[in-house]
Amino acid sequence: MTSPQLPRRSLLLGGLGVIGVGALAACTSGGAGHAGDAAHASNTPHVGMDMGNGKTIGPVPSAGPSAGQKLVTATLTPKRTTLDLGGVTVDTWAYGDSLPGQAIRATAGDFLRVTVDNQLPADTTVHWHGIRLRNAADGVPGVTQDAIRPGARYVYEFTAPDPGTFFFHPHVGLQLDRGLYAPLILDDPAEPGGYDAEWVVVLDDWLDGVGTTPDDVLAKLIADGGPANGNGGMDGMGGMGGMDHGGMGGMNHGMGQAPWGDAGDVTYPHYLINGKTPTDPTTLSAKPGQRVRLRVINAASDSIFTVALGGHRMTLTHADGHPVQPTEVGAFYIGMGERYDAIVTLGDGAFPLVAAPFGKQGHALAVVRTGAGAAPGPDAMPSELGGQVFLGSRLLPSAGSRLPDRAPDATVNLTLNGAMKPYLWGMNGAPYGKNSPLLARAGQRLRINVVNMTMMSHPLHLHGPAFALADTGLRKDTLLLAPMESRQLDLDPEVGDWMVHCHNTYHAEAGMMILLSATA
Ligand code: C2O
Ligand code: CU
Repeated sequence: MTSPQLPRRSLLLGGLGVIGVGALAACTSGGAGHAGDAAHASNTPHVGMDMGNGKTIGPVPSAGPSAGQKLVTATLTPKRTTLDLGGVTVDTWAYGDSLPGQAIRATAGDFLRVTVDNQLPADTTVHWHGIRLRNAADGVPGVTQDAIRPGARYVYEFTAPDPGTFFFHPHVGLQLDRGLYAPLILDDPAEPGGYDAEWVVVLDDWLDGVGTTPDDVLAKLIADGGPANGNGGMDGMGGMGGMDHGGMGGMNHGMGQAPWGDAGDVTYPHYLINGKTPTDPTTLSAKPGQRVRLRVINAASDSIFTVALGGHRMTLTHADGHPVQPTEVGAFYIGMGERYDAIVTLGDGAFPLVAAPFGKQGHALAVVRTGAGAAPGPDAMPSELGGQVFLGSRLLPSAGSRLPDRAPDATVNLTLNGAMKPYLWGMNGAPYGKNSPLLARAGQRLRINVVNMTMMSHPLHLHGPAFALADTGLRKDTLLLAPMESRQLDLDPEVGDWMVHCHNTYHAEAGMMILLSATA
């Protein structure tokens, strides 16, 4: 089992690349069940991310709600549970006994006080994905807090300033690829409405408890990748990026179809919409002619989905919570961690709402029902999936969602590096823990020049304030980058240490993360 000298940091954050991940593999090679995780929790020393200096980060008290600010409270109970996914029953970890977990709903500007009662056999945290919140509530172990130990409670307190479709999940290991996720919906007090009903549609790829666990899968990816070269990974990673770069110069978006290169690393037996397989799908009901707002969240760990509703066009209205110029599409891509809102005017009957994972077998399905008629079968495939698939990063921002016009005060470079064989991922040439933080100043406009130097696509996610694409001004917090793609992102950083990482859970755990450190 775990070497007692191994810093816990490496298990939580994958910060030591090969070494850290190898230890993770050793811990979980016991096979079925979650016993290995319990062993982590009790045997491993508790060390912050500052390389074993023993620093602890206790909760940072908040001033509480200000006068006139509404207080919204919730309790989350991450725990072991048994879930019926529809034709398949799994032992897994979830928030309570439902999948997705119970949504938290509030109005933009409210003060949230969320108590986490950790009933898992492992450390955990909660990250509020996409929320522009105070750094101390961001949920990153070793950076903004100490992880919540098994049996412990922790209170997150923050103002949620912006409306939109968000979600939350742990920021520890591969826990997101179990059942630990739930929507966070912030209503807009100024929302014009214009729709009759609203459905939250959460997509997931599922393998936990189906003969394996996420930890087993990562161990296998590393083993199949073969031994790393003698340079300990770092040099190999830098070289890999450089070599691949040569043949692919200039590749960029704009040609429409299938820009994502290699499909994901992981094979999933099931794909879910709102926690159910196509065998026993969720039914979403409304009346013919009604306008429905879909809030689509991709909570998957290794799957980019194409989403379509059979017989319907969808009007995209928000990207990662930010209003966009309404754009009508037949189908759209959604990467891990992304959210898109769409308005649909419903026909009469029963229709398949399908999310097909890019480059993989199988799909997720829900039934949209407004009238009589046979439900679409589990294999129903809307013809829209075979037409033009819209790339959300081509949306244009609505006027109110732009960053104020300003020239960048500072520029930093960010490369995404790595490969499947050996299974090593990093940023700026090294895995997390070995790369240096991106430095920024609050009050300045930062430009980030991003280059994906790998042959896979990666959903790049920034904690803290949302960035804007420098060319169009589109605001996002998660951006799908195609193989060898370059982008410029503009950002007004807020004080704190913020994670920047790939939202492929396996890539992040293997080291594809870096800190953005903003000082006053
Ligand atoms: Cu949803 Cu740091 O991630
Ligand atoms: Cu990635």
